[in-house]
Amino acid sequence: MSEVIAIANQKGGVGKTTTAVNLAASLAVAEKRVLLIDADPQANATSHYGFRRNAYEYNIYHVLRGAKELRDVTLKTQLANLDLVPSNIGLVGIEKEFYAKEYAQKELALREKIKSARDEYDYLIVDTPPTLGLITINALCAADSVIIPIQCEYFAMEGLAQLFNTVKMIRKTINPSLKVRGFLPTMFSSSNNLSKQVFTELKEHYSSQLFSANDKDESGEGFIYIPRNVKLAESPSFGKPVILYDVKSIGSSAYQNLAGAILGANVG
Ligand SMILES: Nc1ncnc2c1ncn2[C@@H]1O[C@H](COP(=O)(O)OP(=O)(O)OP(=O)(O)O)[C@@H](O)[C@H]1O
Ligand SMILES: [Mg+2]
Repeated sequence: MSEVIAIANQKGGVGKTTTAVNLAASLAVAEKRVLLIDADPQANATSHYGFRRNAYEYNIYHVLRGAKELRDVTLKTQLANLDLVPSNIGLVGIEKEFYAKEYAQKELALREKIKSARDEYDYLIVDTPPTLGLITINALCAADSVIIPIQCEYFAMEGLAQLFNTVKMIRKTINPSLKVRGFLPTMFSSSNNLSKQVFTELKEHYSSQLFSANDKDESGEGFIYIPRNVKLAESPSFGKPVILYDVKSIGSSAYQNLAGAILGANVG
């Protein structure tokens, strides 16, 4: 049984793409078959794997508008178990097209298009844009679960209520089994008081939504978080996930721990 995991938070720059790219890589290294779907017109996940604009002709846009099948646009990555469905800035046009054509079920395009791939992969990870528009709604309708990265910064929780309302609305209508897999504190810095405050607040009020760390966790925090780590910020410019750029970095370990938690726990 495959699992489709959307990485979503309409706040910009909170670590969605970093999480999608590195969780996908860590699951692939753990010998799972993984498809990373870049559903953001910014195409950051695509370039994180070293693909530049002219390296591929078709992308998720062509799939969503029905011109191509998913397998026609899927690219191989440096990792044997990981494939990528790329994106491109042209994807910004899809929302307008959905509305213009008045598709009966414009929220279901991605869900329909990935159906055939569910037999081929263990995990399908979907990176989403920083909006609650139709692309993110498509991702949430296609997903079995969602991971919500939360940046350990001021205003971290802002917008969470709106995101939850969207999840509830999608559960009530199209996708009743959509689960919140968990909140993922990102860019945590133990030397920054504000960062510590946000993490403490998450532990106090939302501990059931956090991923539990296993016994080997040396931080003593008890929950999985992603530290602020320069290797995570540098790796995109080398066109690699952090596990291929610096496997021993704390950023790489953190995403391997997250993959371990995903593999170990049941959904919900
Ligand atoms: N744990 C981390 N440590 C250091 N830098 C990080 C970390 N996580 C993310 N970054 C950097 O922060 C920036 C924003 O991260 P990222 O692109 O993953 O966020 P995003 O939520 O996908 O943004 P957007 O909303 O624009 O899609 C990037 O430059 C990334 O390299
Ligand atoms: Mg992003």
